[in-house]
Amino acid sequence: MADGSTRIFYDDDADLSRLKGRTVAIVGYGNQGRSQALNMRDSGVENVIVGSVRDESWDRAEEDGFRPMPVADAVGAADIVFMLIPDEVAPGVYREEIEPSLGPGKTLNFASGYNVAFGHIVAPDGVDVVMVAPRMIGDGVRSLYLEGSGAPCFVHAHADASGHAWDDCLALAKAIGCTRGGALRVTMEEETYMDLLAEQGTWPLVIAVFLSAYEVQIEAGLPPEAVLLELYASKEPAEVMERVADTGIFDQLRLHSRTSQYGQTTRFEELDKAPIKAFLREALEERIKSGRFDKEWTEAQNSEKPVLEGILERVAKHPIVETEKRLREALGGGAGTNGKE
Ligand code: NAI
Repeated sequence: MADGSTRIFYDDDADLSRLKGRTVAIVGYGNQGRSQALNMRDSGVENVIVGSVRDESWDRAEEDGFRPMPVADAVGAADIVFMLIPDEVAPGVYREEIEPSLGPGKTLNFASGYNVAFGHIVAPDGVDVVMVAPRMIGDGVRSLYLEGSGAPCFVHAHADASGHAWDDCLALAKAIGCTRGGALRVTMEEETYMDLLAEQGTWPLVIAVFLSAYEVQIEAGLPPEAVLLELYASKEPAEVMERVADTGIFDQLRLHSRTSQYGQTTRFEELDKAPIKAFLREALEERIKSGRFDKEWTEAQNSEKPVLEGILERVAKHPIVETEKRLREALGGGAGTNGKE
């Protein structure tokens, strides 16, 4: 929009009858696949089929009343294909089992923009490429649907060979309940950049803040288990974040004591945000948008050594992990439940 605001679409903007007589293949019956398949079936989409490998997802699909089939067979039988397998394996599965059965008139739908944004998957001419990307884990997509509401999502028609890719995209979002919550129009590149910036910018900062706060207090001689309980183990930050989402980042301050409100706002105003912004800007421009992160991660995945496993092992050596263990034991099984579970 010219005013820079996001366009948001709801149930009334979408027409489910567009899916009548068309077969939708869910490729990957995991977190998202199961929820989206069940929602779509409950929305009255008649021909929902499942393409899967023979793992527990296959059995789960059978238990839910679908007749799973190999991915290539499902794609061959489908008009619309939902790519709901992990992003890391998607390019390989796409090349071997999907692309050969994709032809003009078919639609490929993604729940994440990554592989399209970085060119790992390029659909052939004549194929519509759309994105319906729920902003929620699969369980939430299903449970909200059952409650009568729906997960908000990002939608876009990336390639419109048919001339009706956008209308189909909205119909698919409606079928999985996402236009109940609101479908925000965002390109696949934008979705990817926002997603990666949260992962590579916001969350590393949050983790660094918690670890630094822990380290400073331990250095000052404060008792480790108590520091941890105060920091996050009581789940207070989780509750605060829920309030932030519900009422607003500053409005929720009213739920805190006046001492807390004064302390939080004055120090927030004083804080030098320039280094934080510089870190975020660099992550977004130099690493994410430039494709440098994608190259690095692709190399890491192709490496002989298990790169990610090595990093996970290294970070878990932080002393906070031992304190977490001790606190969990001391509080009877769940620090985050205050031992009540
Ligand atoms: P998942 O980790 O639950 O896996 C989905 C399924 O992929 C598994 O059930 C497995 O059977 C299948 N699979 C794995 N390797 C395969 C192969 N080689 N051939 C065929 N099938 C294979 O995946 P998840 O989390 O549901 O993600 C699917 C898509 O949804 C991804 O694009 C992800 O980015 C996107 N997404 C995920 C969200 C989440 O919270 N998990 C939220 C929004 C989008």
